[in-house]
Amino acid sequence: MTPPRSVTRSAHAKVNVFLRVLGARADGYHDLESLVLPLSLADRVTVTDADRLHLDVQAEGAVAESVDAGGMNLALVAALALAEACGGPARGAEIRIAKRIPVAAGLGGGSADAAATLLALNELWGCRLELDTLLSIGERIGSDVPAMLANEPVMIRGRGERIAPVSVVSTWWVVHPFDFPTRSPDAFRWWDEDGGVAGHDPGALVAAAEAGNVELLGHSLFNDLEPCVSRRHPEVAEVKRAFLGAGALGAIMSGSGPTVVALARHVMNANQLAAAVPGSFVVSGPPGAA
Ligand code: C5P
Repeated sequence: MTPPRSVTRSAHAKVNVFLRVLGARADGYHDLESLVLPLSLADRVTVTDADRLHLDVQAEGAVAESVDAGGMNLALVAALALAEACGGPARGAEIRIAKRIPVAAGLGGGSADAAATLLALNELWGCRLELDTLLSIGERIGSDVPAMLANEPVMIRGRGERIAPVSVVSTWWVVHPFDFPTRSPDAFRWWDEDGGVAGHDPGALVAAAEAGNVELLGHSLFNDLEPCVSRRHPEVAEVKRAFLGAGALGAIMSGSGPTVVALARHVMNANQLAAAVPGSFVVSGPPGAA
């Protein structure tokens, strides 16, 4: 079969429903435990045959106003890594990213673009690499990339590279990005500086997510990085309070922040929350029939 000339993939944002930092490691990373939920919010990555590698990023929608193309390099890193693993003659491609996911926001946008680029180029170039091989390439690109390659709810462990699928009932969330970024190395360093303590056992939370028990899930959301980021950026706690005051079942900072994500009882409740907290928008997670 002739390989296609152009392949398009969705690159879904994520929320960490809980994020537990277990401790700092000698290699500069931190051991984690987290439930990563893909959201309906997505970038669109299209790869097309070309002589050389080329990246073009277009901002789409209101949330992508502050896109900085310099932050998109993970997709190029992914392309170079795949070209090497694929072997054969030097390969080129035009990589076009229609960017909707806010950048450096804790929503995994850069990692999602890298994962979608790996999957799309694997198809375009006819590499036929198995998912396990793509996962080990992804792990070298960034700690979040394996979870984004999975493209379904996963529990992550280690520094993020150990993934296990979890069956999660789809629910409605309201996303509030900010106009300032947070860098993951800073958030993890703040956790160290503040004498970070690991959060509690997430067993009840995971069971609530599996059962679609939104009341319990809302009460159980937690992120060990949130207090450290909130201390430096009080807007995070303010928006969280606004969501809870407007009737959210729970609210949490995603990943290393600063985006705050609130859990809604149903889609109408989600629309009310988005109206009550300006600058927010509604998504489902995992995408599909919520
Ligand atoms: O893996 P990635 O390149 O995304 O990580 C960026 C930085 O975030 C790391 O260099 C480290 O400072 C921090 N990090 C961490 N523990 C993790 C993941 C990231 O400390 N599990």
